Amino acid sequence: MDEEGWYSVTPEEIAIKQAQRCRGKVVIDCFSGVGGNTIQFAKVCSSVVAIDIDPMKTAFAMNNAKVYGVANRIDFVTGDFMQLAPCLKGDVLFLSPPWGGPTYSKVESYKLDMLLPRDGYSLFQTALSITPNIIMFLPKNVDLAQLEELAWLSSPPLTLEIEESCVGGEIKAITAYFKSNPTLSSRVDSLTHESHNMTKSMKLKKRSRLKKGIKSTIKKENGSSHKYWIQRYDLFSRYDQGIEMDEEGWYSVTPEVIAIKQAQRCRGKVVIDCFSGVGGNTIQFAKVCSSVVAIDIDPVKVELAMNNAMVYGVANCVDFVIGDFIQLAPSLKVIFLLLSISFIYISAFLTISFDPFVVVALMY
Ligand SMILES: C[S@@+](CC[C@H](N)C(=O)[O-])C[C@H]1O[C@@H](n2cnc3c(N)ncnc32)[C@H](O)[C@@H]1O
Repeated sequence: MDEEGWYSVTPEEIAIKQAQRCRGKVVIDCFSGVGGNTIQFAKVCSSVVAIDIDPMKTAFAMNNAKVYGVANRIDFVTGDFMQLAPCLKGDVLFLSPPWGGPTYSKVESYKLDMLLPRDGYSLFQTALSITPNIIMFLPKNVDLAQLEELAWLSSPPLTLEIEESCVGGEIKAITAYFKSNPTLSSRVDSLTHESHNMTKSMKLKKRSRLKKGIKSTIKKENGSSHKYWIQRYDLFSRYDQGIEMDEEGWYSVTPEVIAIKQAQRCRGKVVIDCFSGVGGNTIQFAKVCSSVVAIDIDPVKVELAMNNAMVYGVANCVDFVIGDFIQLAPSLKVIFLLLSISFIYISAFLTISFDPFVVVALMY
């Protein structure tokens, strides 16, 4: 081992466990170092590609793999994972990037942008272009909410399992296992065809709406709208991909990071978004819930929400309803009910009796 190897190699007990999860697969160890993980993968996987940017590390890893008698099961590559990524194919990607030296333990909450050679989000996106089956080996003080975000914000969303990686019963690190969610993926796939047809009719409607003079965006750099405009990516991270809003939408849409958290609490349920507006909540529910009904009294809002749900590729997971929630309520069957309402409406809703769980989100 070289100096860095001593503090960066994955302890064998942990590497064995991580490898067991990849049994029989083709694994790419993207930051292989002196081979701690590579060797264990080679023992149980169908083949292993071990990449490290440092030729000395590759030489050490080859030597160490020979010691374990597995060198012939590994393709060693000296190179930059970020540059090699477009040419890589594999079943599982293992990421144990540098944590930034021993100081990682000094911070209370380790953020993904502290990872090297690039921030964790870029690394993850690069990995995702190869396979959704990604394993990340991270400091034990890593911000778990950021890991959840990686999973939720993938399209389609991924499942995430966090494992405490221990040596002799003591937690040394965290291993995050990401993989595709077959239920959601197959639903999105099977409905893609319908989505194309809807896109066509939406385009026609959009044209007529614009003719009628309905404002679709407020790209003003000055005046009262400016403060909303600069927050556009907080409202919709895919803003530039065709998101549309009316004037009210700008100040009433639930910011995406909040909508994601609310949706997490409803995973797998049937959700009725009773005041869906331009779709901030609806979209996030559609990503993780078994089905979503989106109700709004304003037909323009419903049309905008449909457009925005299409931008996120989830329009077909949502039943859009133009109507008055108060009037529709008696006929709604609810597992989870989201009331994203302004205070003035609260008393009206409290007079309606719903027996199941009620989530009240007061956004204003
Ligand atoms: C934490 S160590 C990996 C330890 C390894 N899992 C083990 O058990 O031995 C991180 C490694 O990433 C390598 N590295 C840094 N930047 C890289 C890049 N852009 N592409 C590939 N490897 C890189 C470093 O040389 C270092 O050996």
